[in-house]
Amino acid sequence: MKREAVLIIDFGGQYDQLIARRVREQNVYCELRPCTVTLDEIRAFDPIGIIFTGGPNSVYDEKAPHADPGIFQLGVPILGICYGCQLLAHQLGGQVTPAQDDAAREYGKTVTRFDTSCRLFTGIPEQSVTWMSHGDYMAKVPEGFSLAARSDNCPNVAICDEARGFYGVQFHPEVNHTQYGKQMLRNFLYEVCRAHGSWTMADYKNTAIAAIREKVGDGKVLLALSGGVDSSVAAALLAEAVGSQLTCVFVDHGLMRKDEGDEVQAAFDPWPIQFVRVDAEERFLAKLAGVSEPERKRKIIGEEFIRVFEAEAKKIGRVDYLVQGTIYPDVVESGGGDAAVIKSHHNVGGLPDYVDFKEIIEPLRLLFKDEVRQLGRQLGLPEYLVQRQPFPGPGLAIRIIGEVTKEKLDTLREADFIFRDEVAKAHLEGTMSQYFAVLTNMRSVGVMGDGRTYDWTVALRSVTTDDFMTADWTRVPFEVLDAVSTRIVNSVPGVNRVVYDITSKPPATVEWE
Ligand code: XMP
Repeated sequence: MKREAVLIIDFGGQYDQLIARRVREQNVYCELRPCTVTLDEIRAFDPIGIIFTGGPNSVYDEKAPHADPGIFQLGVPILGICYGCQLLAHQLGGQVTPAQDDAAREYGKTVTRFDTSCRLFTGIPEQSVTWMSHGDYMAKVPEGFSLAARSDNCPNVAICDEARGFYGVQFHPEVNHTQYGKQMLRNFLYEVCRAHGSWTMADYKNTAIAAIREKVGDGKVLLALSGGVDSSVAAALLAEAVGSQLTCVFVDHGLMRKDEGDEVQAAFDPWPIQFVRVDAEERFLAKLAGVSEPERKRKIIGEEFIRVFEAEAKKIGRVDYLVQGTIYPDVVESGGGDAAVIKSHHNVGGLPDYVDFKEIIEPLRLLFKDEVRQLGRQLGLPEYLVQRQPFPGPGLAIRIIGEVTKEKLDTLREADFIFRDEVAKAHLEGTMSQYFAVLTNMRSVGVMGDGRTYDWTVALRSVTTDDFMTADWTRVPFEVLDAVSTRIVNSVPGVNRVVYDITSKPPATVEWE
């Protein structure tokens, strides 16, 4: 069978990687190339379909990027999205103008009516919501095209030329707000481009491994392993690609959850890699002694991590490459801006910039979290590692209010384990994005047996969110909360009260510190 690949031409839109991800999700291989890609390169790529992305420009701007006109003669179907749609119209003889009045500019959710006889809209309802984001308007559609969707404000929301397989949509089918967007992209791939959908994450794995081998050659590779999903998957990928040249340094700062350090080590035992587990608990606890201010704790932990890692890297000797488990949302979120610092995040998996290395390798840079998980499964990582909820770099230290001591850590580890265990027993893991226990610095009076107690309060926290920027508190069933509370109070010494946090983010944050 012919290799099936879709070419996404990048005109600078914000959702370009999301388009790529949506195509992969439909089991079709794709690559994103800059809009300067030449006709020869496109021919060599031999795509079954081409997608023009959105972009910040207006097509009639002098410096606006264009496609090589030869692209329209290749006999390959094209889907233009937003700017890509206007470009298609503009380059094929239509007319695009700035929307004269505010009404024709459309931003956000827009009720749209579709001509479902158009192949792009096959099988979807005649009316649904789309996500628009355009200030320009297609005043005249090019010859050969017909209108295929309209909104109240705009008669030309989508255009199609079925004969040539050219389609343009003013909205963004790749974002979740467009109700049937995934189906539209699927229609383009399967109805128009005639894809068979044979691409899988196993193919991604093989391509990534080949690329890593080519880049690394016989060089030495170093990876800071935190035990989180991203750095674990990156480690597994590198282990598979260049295992004998790889050293993973796992700094166990003593702030991990119950059994976590052993689990991480056990997961990496089968690979033929150098696995260095540094037991740094004493070091970290000594630095944290007497510190109760949250930001101080974070800074101390971040810095100490770097110091320990640095010492280990020195022992290993010269390394050529440093691997980071950066994933696509990290790339987007680190895009800059002047946002206020709410908490200084220490991604313990990353960023020592002092080690003497040639280059940083970020093999997960283009993947979204759920794709990283799929890749982890492909690589044979155990499910408990792959499905792991996010765990902050500073660990339990930011879930103990006030000073961090070994005793408090042990108390919190037990309470947290019980919460996670009861959630698992109730099969609720999939309904919560992150759930954990917090050891407050509040003590209160209780009665156990016939005696008075004066012990700590544990708070339970569970949130549901897509992106962790905002989060809603999870409506955990009362009977589960009841089971957790009873078990904690009965079996964790020093705790006589359990409360549940019912605050969303904002105004609260997910972690308590
Ligand atoms: P907040 O508490 O800021 O948390 O609402 C949002 C998400 O980020 C995680 N988090 C961290 N992750 N290093 C990390 O790698 C950190 O320093 C850190 N602080 C918070 C938090 O667990 C939640 O998933």
